[in-house]
Amino acid sequence: MSYRNAALPVAERVADLLTRMTIDEKIFQLFQTFITDENREEVKQQIRATGLGSRILAASNLAGNMMLRMAELDDLNEIQRIAVEESRLGIPILHGRDVIHGHRTVFPIPLAMAATFDPAAMEEAFRIAAQEARAAGVHWSFAPMMDIARDPRWGRIIEGFGEDPYLGARMAEAAVYGFQGDHNEDGYWPSDRILACAKHYVGYGAAEGGRDYNTAEISDHTLRNIYLPPFKAAVRAGVGSVMSAFHDLNGESASGSRYLLTDILRGEFGFDGFVVSDWGSVDDLIHHRVAADERDAARIAFDAGVDMEMVSLCYIHHLAELIQAGEISHQQLDDACGRVLAAKFSLGLFENPYVERPNPVNLQMPAENLQASRRTAARGMVLLENNGLLPLSKETRRIAVIGPYADQRRAMLGSWVNDGLTDETATLVEAMCAACPQAEILTAPIGLYDEMLMAAAGADVVILAVGESNARNGENNHVAVLHLPAGQDELVRAVGKIGKPTVLVVFSGRPLVLTDLVGSVDAVLWAWHPGSAGAYAAADVLFGDINPGGKLPVSFPRAGGQIPVHYNANSTGKGGSDYLDLPGKPLYPFGFGLSYTTFEISDLRLSQDQFKAGETVNVSVQVQNSGQRAGDEIVQCYIQDCVSHLTRPVRELKGFRRVTLQPGESRRVEFALGPDELSYYGPSGKWLLEPGVFKVWLGNDSRAALEGSFTVTP
Ligand code: NOJ
Repeated sequence: MSYRNAALPVAERVADLLTRMTIDEKIFQLFQTFITDENREEVKQQIRATGLGSRILAASNLAGNMMLRMAELDDLNEIQRIAVEESRLGIPILHGRDVIHGHRTVFPIPLAMAATFDPAAMEEAFRIAAQEARAAGVHWSFAPMMDIARDPRWGRIIEGFGEDPYLGARMAEAAVYGFQGDHNEDGYWPSDRILACAKHYVGYGAAEGGRDYNTAEISDHTLRNIYLPPFKAAVRAGVGSVMSAFHDLNGESASGSRYLLTDILRGEFGFDGFVVSDWGSVDDLIHHRVAADERDAARIAFDAGVDMEMVSLCYIHHLAELIQAGEISHQQLDDACGRVLAAKFSLGLFENPYVERPNPVNLQMPAENLQASRRTAARGMVLLENNGLLPLSKETRRIAVIGPYADQRRAMLGSWVNDGLTDETATLVEAMCAACPQAEILTAPIGLYDEMLMAAAGADVVILAVGESNARNGENNHVAVLHLPAGQDELVRAVGKIGKPTVLVVFSGRPLVLTDLVGSVDAVLWAWHPGSAGAYAAADVLFGDINPGGKLPVSFPRAGGQIPVHYNANSTGKGGSDYLDLPGKPLYPFGFGLSYTTFEISDLRLSQDQFKAGETVNVSVQVQNSGQRAGDEIVQCYIQDCVSHLTRPVRELKGFRRVTLQPGESRRVEFALGPDELSYYGPSGKWLLEPGVFKVWLGNDSRAALEGSFTVTP
């Protein structure tokens, strides 16, 4: 039985095992079940009879905000033991769980991690999450989510990396490396990591009106150039699985589209892992009315390229009869099953199917992981306004820390948290007390408006913590109004009128409209949902122990009516970008963020101003910290393809680098622009580089003004 021989390469073991399996056993490898108290005995019987592909460890289809602790280890091991010891071939079960931004140690929401513009921090966060989750028995996470989102009404904007395909691609690959590590030449991954899942393939973030699950219409041009690049990068990084999305795109169900799942994903990108549906998204083909019944849904989704069905039962009810009828081939079944088995071998599940007890991670968050989460949270915070009030002096005597999020624990964690513990999460009040024990911290109960104002009036400095709850974003939580939730705008204005130096700290999962509020305060710090140690990170930034360096991964609109507003819009014919009643530009652009120091970016140099297609040009600038404190700048490189066959964005991010500079220190930062950066998907979806003139801008946000140009010749 060579499939049991761990010394053989994964591919050989898969081939051997497939020869031993019945059709039913293969089909059950393509099913992910959800065990409840009601179906537990039935599932056990089924596992004995046919084995089982996977088990999802979730409380419901809306797992994010449900806070279900990890399934008990005994339970995981008991069900696994049935698969390993009581099923004919002993194939272990793959345990899948939504480990989205940390496991036991909660990291900031992915959008906040994107704001670090630091792929190494992203990789570290996902590595730590993988190690904690694996130690707790998880083999596979449904992350990273890499849906480009241009609409902050959509609650799932929190789970992705923002509006930009280049930033999204860099973050997606970093997350994949963090989760999976590198496999060896025989196809095995490191035993302390988990399988990643690139989701939701594809265009799910373009839901009409920002309403989750809604229809999306995206031209092929925009799909390929904006929405697909993070997936392409994830495939290049070796992602082991991809999740097909819930919605319908351009008239097809995303989970029933051969064009998306086979032609592009496998054919063009060369993806060789397996595709899992989203929860019930095969069954949803019936609701989209592209399938008449379950049998039809199974046929369409399977033929399109969905290998494993999450929770709904179309495959296990109908694949056998579809094969018998010749509508699905034996080869297709073997291919799909082989891909799932390959993941199980790669993860070492045949050798190590069980969770070890006792599990230290479940008992305590490792201190170094909490430290990493705190560091990443601080790196992702974005200073949007500062008239010089920040950083606060630790000599300040009386600091009011008030507002609905001053004393909040759960909202610090964010909306996709299954295993982080609320009661271990510090509040901002606690963190401010710890950071400045000599100051008097004035607080007031959230509901008591007058007491909040009295605390503000009695303080030397006011920290006003506002924002939105974790329950207001994430899956199925879309909003039509992008202002702070009810009552908070009034609170900000009322506190502003008191006239004390005031810092607005905003905890949020999405951009919100601050246009009429920023005049009421002296500084605004965007803290996102910053994770287990996020309140400490906010205090680190407020007191200047850490100089903020995060930048916005998504534009912040002036008003909801500007949506969609993103920096990489196409050029228009006749200007027309302003509204009659508002400028067309967002309040804060993509890539924007302030620091407690200042930076000069100057002296743009090009290694050549003319070169052949296929060659690379180096473009560089001098960056100097011209202020009094050490700090981080994120140097950004944008290009414009001046004339092309298809309309192109006014500018596109093609490089970024986060650098730390001491006061007065200066460094040259260089970017290489080669075929990958200069090509695009042109007519008929062809990846091509069109010779001609390109402009390049370097600077510290998407309005970068330092300009150069070069010509690419055929
Ligand atoms: C539905 C969500 O869309 C998906 O992102 C998640 O991974 C699954 N539920 C499983 O919980």
